[in-house]
Amino acid sequence: MDNRISRRSALKHMGAAIISGAAAVSGLLPLASCGNSKTKRVIFYFTGTGNCLYIARQLAGENTELHSIPQLVKQGKYEFEADEIGIVYPIYGHMPPNMVREFIKKARLKAGYKFAVLTYGARKCDAVEIWDRISRDAGNSFDYINTIVMVDNWLPNFDMNEQIRIDKRIPENLQKITADIERQRHWHQPVTEEERQMHQDFMARSGLNPEEGFLMKSERCFTVTDACISCGICTYVCPRGNYELTSRGVRMSGDCEFCFACIQNCPQKAIRFTRMSEVNPGARYRNEHISLMDLKLANNQKI
Ligand SMILES: Cc1cc2nc3c(=O)[nH]c(=O)nc-3n(C[C@H](O)[C@H](O)[C@H](O)COP(=O)(O)O)c2cc1C
Ligand code: SF4
Ligand code: SF4
Repeated sequence: MDNRISRRSALKHMGAAIISGAAAVSGLLPLASCGNSKTKRVIFYFTGTGNCLYIARQLAGENTELHSIPQLVKQGKYEFEADEIGIVYPIYGHMPPNMVREFIKKARLKAGYKFAVLTYGARKCDAVEIWDRISRDAGNSFDYINTIVMVDNWLPNFDMNEQIRIDKRIPENLQKITADIERQRHWHQPVTEEERQMHQDFMARSGLNPEEGFLMKSERCFTVTDACISCGICTYVCPRGNYELTSRGVRMSGDCEFCFACIQNCPQKAIRFTRMSEVNPGARYRNEHISLMDLKLANNQKI
């Protein structure tokens, strides 16, 4: 499948309006420890299906604090000081999630070295330059910005069962990024003119607001079918706290990040995306190294 055409044409159908605490994941050890134990590193992450939490953990050393951005926003924590500060987020239409934008605008980050790792699934375009612009405007410029390709969790274009079978060379790519960060490399992954143009075309066709990215009312994007067993998982994994269990079943409302944590983690596959059809409504994804409990701790807005 041609990812470029399929994602773009799918979005077209969405119409013009398309669109640390506890969750510092304390007690969770990085799978591959890196970093000088004396160097204090703070890493922020945003995740819908676990890819970014996995990468954030992999970049964590002995003396690293991992912070979930939805938890920091909820607690109003925006001031951080460390030797090194990193951020890991998924690109949505090559842009950061809305909450990541809001976080970086308010954040006051003091560090000798700042790095950003953006995860994506098929086409990154000028995501690196977009982040450079947004973070610089916020007074939080980053010394190192790189991307890493992972499973693409965008259900309208991708079959999750197919995606997990593709070798995206994650360990090799992660190793290079880890080595770069270890030596505090100052570098932004280059962007081609063609990639810039592809993003411009995408924005024109999708009708997305470049200052907002993906943001829409969840009740206009999802429905819950009779298969729902009221397990409550959706009420924990949504970083916006949009879901609620009521005596008459699940209700959802509020601004939606399009992170797909709800739809991808429903054990009954009872949540449906109503804005466009899915390639395989029977296939769902969560990063193989990330448990449901990890995601609940990361995104839960009830605590
Ligand atoms: C709303 C949305 C938009 C996306 N846009 C892009 C994109 O423009 N390019 C791309 O390669 N992947 C895109 N993706 C895929 C994610 O960036 C990728 O799967 C990411 O690793 C998910 O991270 P997470 O598991 O931490 O949520 C998109 C996913 C979603 C849900
Ligand atoms: S996760 Fe699915 S089954 Fe569980 S309450 Fe939510 S919609 Fe229902
Ligand atoms: S409603 Fe679903 S897609 Fe929207 S922010 Fe919540 S979990 Fe993410």
